[in-house]
Order: sequence, then structure tokens, then C-alpha cells
Amino acid sequence: MLCGIICAYICSIALDGIQKNTMDQDSYLKLQDDIEKEAVSDLTEIASLDDLESWRVDLLGRNGKLTGLLRGISELPVDSRREAGGKANSLKKALTEKYQDHKSYLEGNSSIGSESGTNSLDVTLPGRNIEFGTLHPTTAAVREICQVFESMGFQIIEGPEVELDTYNFQKLNIPEEHPARDMWNSLWIDRVLPDGSRPLLLRTHTSPMQIRTMESQNPPVRVVVPGKTYRYEATDATHEWQFCQIEGLAVDKDITFADLKGTLEEFARRIFGDKRKARFRCDFFPFVEPGAEVSIDCFKCEGDGCRVCGNSGWIEIMGAGMVHPKVLEGVGYDPEIYSGFAWGMGAERIAMLKHGIDDIRQFYSNDVRFLKQFSQ
Ligand code: PHE
Repeated sequence: MLCGIICAYICSIALDGIQKNTMDQDSYLKLQDDIEKEAVSDLTEIASLDDLESWRVDLLGRNGKLTGLLRGISELPVDSRREAGGKANSLKKALTEKYQDHKSYLEGNSSIGSESGTNSLDVTLPGRNIEFGTLHPTTAAVREICQVFESMGFQIIEGPEVELDTYNFQKLNIPEEHPARDMWNSLWIDRVLPDGSRPLLLRTHTSPMQIRTMESQNPPVRVVVPGKTYRYEATDATHEWQFCQIEGLAVDKDITFADLKGTLEEFARRIFGDKRKARFRCDFFPFVEPGAEVSIDCFKCEGDGCRVCGNSGWIEIMGAGMVHPKVLEGVGYDPEIYSGFAWGMGAERIAMLKHGIDDIRQFYSNDVRFLKQFSQ
């Protein structure tokens, strides 16, 4: 600022000098230089159109410094007028261009910025990092789990999320009005048929795909079905109203509970470590008999009891069982010839155990700081 005032003062004395024909060519060119330097440095500070207009008037207006300079050419010795005039004119042209650039920059017409100074594009600055997306932890868990079963000969398939009551319940040995329906709080689709029934819901589990698969193919069957499931449920650290299940089904001649145990034990070791032991305890699901709850010994405390396993030494990882003869019959498989086993696990639950995540709501609250941690 101070520099500007001093410079303006010197300029005014110098311009007086021109008018009085007391200036030689060198001083004239020096003055031209000073005007240019000051103008360019002032321009870089200008952030409003009003200030820019004052800048223009002060330089290029009728009484502006540069205009005065041009006028003063006639006062110079004749032999130096040509060169000095040429330079003054190019300076006028250059400053007019800078003015235009800066104006369109201030008006928002230029995305790179004015080339006149601080606002110009600085090509020496380090580039911005490119953000790469990462796999969602549920997707990563689903892929890892599916790979394990794929390597054992299972085929990965998918099915509809909006499901018929028939498949979600009835063909799974859960007739209408059966109390077992209370095991799954359902989200019904608002479509009522003339008889008053509501046939559609968001599937509460991936088990309906057991039926769809068996209806569409003959044994042997070996499928794994990952997919979204929905429950009408209050959310808390271990419950979400929408989550992902991974269903499995194997049907063939001579399949026994030992096959179920072997398959799921192998799965547990591949996901949670070689030393894992699996525990099978009786549980009830209408579509399997016997039904089982599958747990692994706690990978954190190795069974001694800790926070992860709720001091029991065991962690429940899925429900499973031998396909109920009534279910086999319903899809046209002869239960005297064929038998099979099935399981259903929560993908998020497996991911939570693997990564020590203590709140399932994290998966769907879209906080990238959380989501980014599980990239592979
Ligand atoms: N579908 C059951 C559930 O949601 C899990 C399960 C699947 C149990 C297959 C046994 C066999 O909760």
C-alpha cells in the first residue's frame, strides 16, 4: 500500500516532467516500467468489480497514468518518440487485456482464474489425491464367504427381495397363522387381494431360495445364496431392519448331519482361523429337523471367556439343520431317497466378529471414515 502511494507520487512528479518536456527517453521508459509493475501488482489484490473499475480509470481513464504517458510522447525528443510510443501502446494493450481477463474471472466466467497474478493456475502445486472407492464391508464379507463355499463346489445364486408369503413361509413349513411366524417380524407390501390376503413381503430371510432352487432343479443341489433381508425391528447395536444373509443348501442321496458339520466347520476355520472348533446345539427352525445353532470357540480368548463372547467362550455364527422331510416333499423330492442340509448366516455378523466391529448400525449409516477401513 505504502509502496503504491510512493509510486503514485513519483509518477505524478514524472508525468509533470513529461508535460514540461523535461524528460529524456530513458526516464520515460523507466516510468513506463514503474507504471506497469505497480498496475500488475495492484491487479492481483483486486477482488471486486468496483475496485477493478477504479484500477482501470486510474490507469486507462481520460486522466489515467497510462493515458498521460501516451500523451506525453509528443513532448519527447523526436528521435525517441517512435520507440517509446510503440512500447507505451503495447503496454496499454497488455493492461487492457489483463483488465478483461480479471473482469471475466471476477464475473465467474473463468474457471482457471485470472492470469494476472495470485489467482492464476499454479502448475507447480502438488496435485490433488484421487479418492478411490473401497468395497463395502458387507460386500467384502459376502465375497469372502462365497469364495469359501465356491471352493467346496457350491454354486452362488441370487433371488428376489420382494417375496411371496408362499415362499417366505408356507413352503418352508410355516403355514398361515402358525406361531412360528413370530420368529420373523415381517414388512408386508401394501397389496391386498380381493380375499383380504396380503401375498407379498420383503423377504425376512434368504431361505425362500431353498424352495425356489429345489422347485427348479433336480438333486444334487449345492447352492449358496447371498442377499438382502428385511425385518420389522427396532435397531440397536446388534439388530438392523435390513441386513444381508447367506443361505446354503445341499441336497443329495446319503447326505447326513456329518456333512453339515464337516462343511460348516471347514467354513469356520477358513474364515476365523485354523484352530477354530465348532459347536452344534439343538435349535428350532420349522424347515429343518434336527435344527442347530452353530457356534465357534471364541477366537479372541480361545474359550476362556471375554467381552467378545459374552464370557461364554462361544460365539453363535448361524442357524442350520437337516432339510425337513415335509419341505422336501413339498418341492417334489422324495424324502426317502434324498436328504440335505441348510444354513443361514448374517454377513454383517461375520464381518463384525472378524473386524471387531461392535455396532451393526455402522454398516448402513454411510460414514466413509468407517467404510474406508475395510478395503482390501
Ligand atoms: N432362515 C433362518 C433365519 O433367518 C436361518 C436358517 C437357515 C436356519 C437355514 C436353518 C437353516 O433366521
